[in-house]
Amino acid sequence: MCGIIGYVGKNNNAINVIFKGLKKLEYRGYDSAGLAVIANKKFKIIKSVGKLYNLDVILKKNFINANIGIGHTRWATHGKPSKENAHPHTDFTESIVIVHNGIIENYIELKTKFMKKAPKFKSETDTEIIAHLLKKNYKNNLLHTVQKILTMIKGSYALGIMCTEEPDKIVCAKQDASLIIGLGKGENFIASDIPALLPYTRNMIFLENGDIAEITAEKVIIKDIKNNVKIREIKNIQWDTMQSEKNGYKHFMLKEIFEQPHTIEETFRDRIYINEGKIHIKEIKFDEKYVENISNICVVGCGTAYHAGLISKFLFENFAKIPTEVDIASEFRYRGPILNKKKLVIVISQSGETADTLAALRLAKSEGCETIAICNVIDSSISRESTNVIYTQCGPEIGVASTKAFTSQLSIIYMLALDWGYKRKKLTNEELKKYLKELWEIPSKIFQFLKKSKDVRNVAKVFVKKMNKNKILYLGRHINYPIALEGALKLKELSYIHAEGYAAGEMKHGPIALIDKSMFVVAIAMKSSRVYTKMVSNIEEVKARGGIAVIIAERDDREIASKSKYIIYIPQTGEFISPIMTVVSLQLLAYYTSVFLGYDVDQPRNLAKSVTVE
Ligand code: AGP
Repeated sequence: MCGIIGYVGKNNNAINVIFKGLKKLEYRGYDSAGLAVIANKKFKIIKSVGKLYNLDVILKKNFINANIGIGHTRWATHGKPSKENAHPHTDFTESIVIVHNGIIENYIELKTKFMKKAPKFKSETDTEIIAHLLKKNYKNNLLHTVQKILTMIKGSYALGIMCTEEPDKIVCAKQDASLIIGLGKGENFIASDIPALLPYTRNMIFLENGDIAEITAEKVIIKDIKNNVKIREIKNIQWDTMQSEKNGYKHFMLKEIFEQPHTIEETFRDRIYINEGKIHIKEIKFDEKYVENISNICVVGCGTAYHAGLISKFLFENFAKIPTEVDIASEFRYRGPILNKKKLVIVISQSGETADTLAALRLAKSEGCETIAICNVIDSSISRESTNVIYTQCGPEIGVASTKAFTSQLSIIYMLALDWGYKRKKLTNEELKKYLKELWEIPSKIFQFLKKSKDVRNVAKVFVKKMNKNKILYLGRHINYPIALEGALKLKELSYIHAEGYAAGEMKHGPIALIDKSMFVVAIAMKSSRVYTKMVSNIEEVKARGGIAVIIAERDDREIASKSKYIIYIPQTGEFISPIMTVVSLQLLAYYTSVFLGYDVDQPRNLAKSVTVE
């Protein structure tokens, strides 16, 4: 995924707006960056490889006063990270310039069909062909030229385009990649998402697929490919700009871990009525009759969102008695899933832009399934295309490693499973109230736990000093098995250590061969769990072979104290509620490990915040 930004107006220097906007978008991809402004009717294009800092160094040496420009921060899809492949891209005469987020699927076909006799392309990207096609077809109206070219293009795109013949306007277009217009006074903006615009305006238009907009300092016109004018709602975004800043934390990820008591409360707000013992999720459009007749549920997501899906299986099947299958989104549409009108498909995605998850949603809809999207980014592609969308409402998640979005996804799943369990008469009113009370206590329990984050920090210090960096196992059972997977993923993506999550019962079927005296094994052993004693046996098996156990245990569990020197105690919760607690300890463990290893926590190598390509 990449980030694009654009500015046209009289109140700000375009370079400043663009660079600051790129800083806010850097988490979307950061292997190279660039910008183009128009000064004296000519493009000034500056590009750099690596972090945005490198672009800043160049900009500081080249002050340019401009009031229109576009910028881009890249996560390479076609062509290695390099200055040549960095955006913006231009035609051969450098009279048209373009930035692009997405993938042009037929770019090779376009190159061979339309640019046979062209000189050698300047880059290996799929984007460059668009600049050449625009130039080739330009007839003194950039908007019309863009409308024409887009009929030739297949794929996903958020485009920002300028041309020297029309130096006062930016034309942008959106298809399956987020693009927002920010409305100012005497100035207007485009950006991939909200944080880049918040310092300048709260009034935003979320473009829809097929929208093409022409933007000047004073005006915004939105049309479609057939030149029909499209009217879009202007939304006033209430995100606090501080929310998208670090608030004094060293990293966005740490801020977002510590935000979880608040963000879980926000997710519950206006949905759990604790005194009445009720749940009401107003975003769900289908009625109780439908809930009673759901034959089964299919939950789809990637990475951390997939792990939330694995937890949902325990909840939908135990609370609501609805058979539930869970799929990795990139596998789902290729395995020939059995889909029909009676099947409910739930897709989970923080960004709402993950290509594989979007494709899964589209397949489900094409088969007539009812769909629910659990998303964090409003008006994202997935949230817009799903029949029902429930927002996690946890504010922008900037750290590439997902934390608060995950616990908010779980919070929504708990509410759905409990609400449906009660409506399908699988849970009594008393049971519902019991679980609601346990859920309601979670924010304060996480808050209490986070006050002792130094305990986790101390374990991470030992981890870094003593661990065998080639192998670490995370073990869990029952509803904490997916949390073992999630904890291992956090360590993998933040510390570049091959950590593997495993069902503890599987140890004897192979992984126990890995255990030797240098091997750390993280084990989640909740006393409230029906498989606690089995988990303790697994810990003994690890120790008997010289392994070092790091145990996630309940605070009042005295029995476990003798099992290891490294125990992270967390507040006691009910068995089914424990994942939303255990995961926080593993988020912190991965965070501190990465910090002590000196890695870039918020922008781990090779990753991007949302994978908008397959
Ligand atoms: C999570 O820490 C990872 N960054 C990644 O696995 C992420 O969960 C996955 O790419 C799905 O993203 P989404 O929730 O935005 O769809």
